[in-house]
This record gives sequence, structure tokens and C-alpha cells, in this order.
Amino acid sequence: MSKFIIEGQAKLSGEIPVKGAKNAALKIIPASILSVEPIRITNLPNIEDIRLSLDLLADLGGTFERKFGEVNIETKNISKINIGSKYANKFRASIMFAGPMLARFGEVKFPHPGGCVIGAGGRPIDLFIDGFKALGAEVGETKDFYHLKAAKLRACEYFFTIISVTATESLMMTAVLADGVTTLKNCAMEPEITALADYLNSQGAKIKGAGTPIIKIQGVKKLNADQFKIIPDRIETGSFAIMAAITKSEIIISNCEPAHIEILLNIFRKINVDFETGKDWIKIKPAKKILPHNIKTHEYPGFPTDLQPPYTLLMTQANGISLIHETIYDRRLLYTDLLSQMGANITTCDPHRVVVNGPSKLYGRKLVSPDLRAGITLLIAALIAKGPTEIDNIYQIDRGYENIDDRLRAIGAKIKRIGTLNI
Ligand code: EPU
Repeated sequence: MSKFIIEGQAKLSGEIPVKGAKNAALKIIPASILSVEPIRITNLPNIEDIRLSLDLLADLGGTFERKFGEVNIETKNISKINIGSKYANKFRASIMFAGPMLARFGEVKFPHPGGCVIGAGGRPIDLFIDGFKALGAEVGETKDFYHLKAAKLRACEYFFTIISVTATESLMMTAVLADGVTTLKNCAMEPEITALADYLNSQGAKIKGAGTPIIKIQGVKKLNADQFKIIPDRIETGSFAIMAAITKSEIIISNCEPAHIEILLNIFRKINVDFETGKDWIKIKPAKKILPHNIKTHEYPGFPTDLQPPYTLLMTQANGISLIHETIYDRRLLYTDLLSQMGANITTCDPHRVVVNGPSKLYGRKLVSPDLRAGITLLIAALIAKGPTEIDNIYQIDRGYENIDDRLRAIGAKIKRIGTLNI
């Protein structure tokens, strides 16, 4: 298994460009199934989850040609309606293929998606199934597979009882080719949803309201070809901003969209982390005395659950006590135990809340990355720790952050990869 060895406390400075958003690209690739015409996607991150998504597309019969940072996709020869467990077991976003397959072929089979440890008892897909039914699909279920069929999808009015990013995106994609006007209510508002709507609209879809709680989709007969540039990854942007703040470095984060992490920047103002922003960059200035500040994760534009782990780490270096309240996932605070092993003073109140008492000196340890966002957090923790840190299972970092070791080395980090990166 590959691992990182990081020698902490190296001085960081310079510019780090942000890559395309994983969670936008993971929807744009399956959305290409809605059109039989060729699609070109640029600013594509070179990460494991994207490779899996393209491999799944190819397994269904689609073709793609990938060059650095972009891909040309053709789906006209898709012949299979089965999403194999070989892919579905590996990444949850395989579920994003179900809606477009149903919309284009009137049928799809898929197993319950796996691939992530942050939800208790496996992350549910009840909202997807419920929504597909509302759009007119018959849903069969065996021990291993869901089987959806719809001779003709019909527009519907659907209210999400829980706000969900991927469920909103799934129903939005499925409704694009349905007859009539679909109204989705209590939708998630994440920038990736707006990006997906922009992409589909550029191909002739008629979607209004993406980025608000009510999305209306006027069904169309077909979508045309187009090309699309993936938006910058806001979680990578926020993680780098936190990395700069905690290492007290001057770092320019470029190719980003500062408005997508407005909540973090507003908290930076409160906790003494000074910064400047431009159209597509953020310059973090060397922080002095960082102040504590409570957070409660929330759907966009609230505090993103995906930035909760690095923010919790930042609070281990703040002068005082902060409460971290994770509201979205049941198992997304377990990694705090690893920060405690490094020397952080963190008390668990219940599965959703921890209290962080800072500042604490962190020490290098041998650790195993439990999931993607916890993984980048351990990596950032290692950058300020005294002594070397070894992080194992770095698959759980590489799958979301492109060439992270090369990019951190370029701004001064002392990080060594043992093993090879196979993307
Ligand atoms: N939920 C249900 N039923 C469903 C779907 C979701 O109960 O059918 C619940 C979940 O259990 C959770 C809540 O709804 O408690 C919200 O989850 P959501 O569905 O919004 O999460 P997601 O759409 O599966 C996306 C991102 C996640 C990110 C969340 C929240 C993708 C591929 N994934 O997941 O990203 O944490 O939104 O912003 O877009 C990551 O990148 O590390 C990651 C986990």
C-alpha cells in the first residue's frame, strides 16, 4: 500500500492552483449519457474517482479519449443497462448513472452503491428511489440489485424530505427528457448543482432555479453536443486556505472561485486569519493568534461538511475552546481520535459533536487515512507536527486530490510518497 512520509514544520510559500471539482465532474460524466452527441469536458481533475466514473461509462459501452485535464466522451453506442457491482462497490457516485440511464433507455439495473465510510450503516438512496418512482419508474428490488423501468417518464412535483446534493442532481438529470414540467422542491443549492444545470442548459435542456430550493425542468426531446469546463473544487480551495492559515504561511490559492467558500472566508475574518481575494484567487496572509470559533455543518451556503475535518484541525491551533457540530454524517468525527493521537485536545460529546481546546502542539505519528476529507486533514496536521508523520492508505487522499504530494512539494512541503500513484 502506498503511503506518505511528511517531515513537519517546513516553511510553505508560493502559489497553489486549484483543480476542477471532483463533485461536479462526477455528475457531468454520467450526464453525458443524456445526449447521443459527443461531449468535451475540460478542467477535469486527474483523480481515482474520475477514472472509475470513466471506466464505468466504458463498461456500459460509451467511449472516451482522455488527454491531460480533458476528456472527449461519446455515449451513442451504450448497449448495457447494468451498472456492475465491480464499479458500484467502489464509489458512491456510481449512483449518478442511474437517472441518465433511466431517462435515455427507460431501464437501468444497479446495486446499492458503496465506497465510503462516513455514513452509518451505508449511505441511503431512498430519496433517489422515491424520486424515480415519482417520475413514473417502476422499481423492482432483489437482494443484489434495483431494477428501474419506465416506458415513458412523466413530469412530477417532488419534495425532498431531506436536502441532498446527489438526489437533487439525479432527479434534475432524469427529468430533463421527461414529458412536461417537473418541479423539485427543497433542493440542495450547492455550486455543483448550478454547474450541472448550466451544462445541461448549454445542450438545450430547460432548467430554471438551480442554486435555489425550487428547480423547474421543462422536459425536452433531446440534448445536443457541447463542451463544458468543470468549476474549481471549492473543498480543495477551502482545504488549501486552512492549510495556509494553520501553517501561518503566505500562500496564493489560484484558479479558484472565492465566492464558493464565502462562509469560511467570513469565519477567517472573525478568527484573525487575514486574506485578500481577487476574481479567481485568494491570498492567505501569515496568521498570528488564531481565535476559536464554533461551527455547525450545513447545506450550502452553510459550512460544508467536507471542510469540517480540516477546520476542526485549525481549531486545535486556535487560542481557546470551540464546538464542532457535524450535522450531515454520523461517522464524520471519528478521525478526531487520530488528531488526539497527534496531541490535539479534543473531547467527544456525542457522535455529532466534539469540543476542541487549543492550542496544542502536534507530534508526528504513524496513521492510516480513514476517508478522503479526514485524509487531507491528517496530511495538513503532519505539515505542522514536530517530527515525521507516516500516513498509510493514501488511496483515501489520492482519490480526491490530484497529485497532492507534487503540488505541496512545489510550495515547500517535505513530503515523500512511498509506492506509485496509478491513475
Ligand atoms: N440522504 C438520505 N437519503 C438519500 C440520500 C441522502 O437520507 O437517498 C441523507 C444522507 O445520509 C445525509 C444527507 O442526506 O445524511 C445529505 O447527504 P447528501 O445526499 O447531500 O450527500 P451526497 O449527495 O451523497 C454530496 C457529496 C459529498 C458531500 C455531500 C454534502 C458528491 C458525489 N458527494 O454527497 O461529498 O459531503 O454532498 O455536501 O457530490 C466528499 O466529497 O468527500 C463527499 C462525501
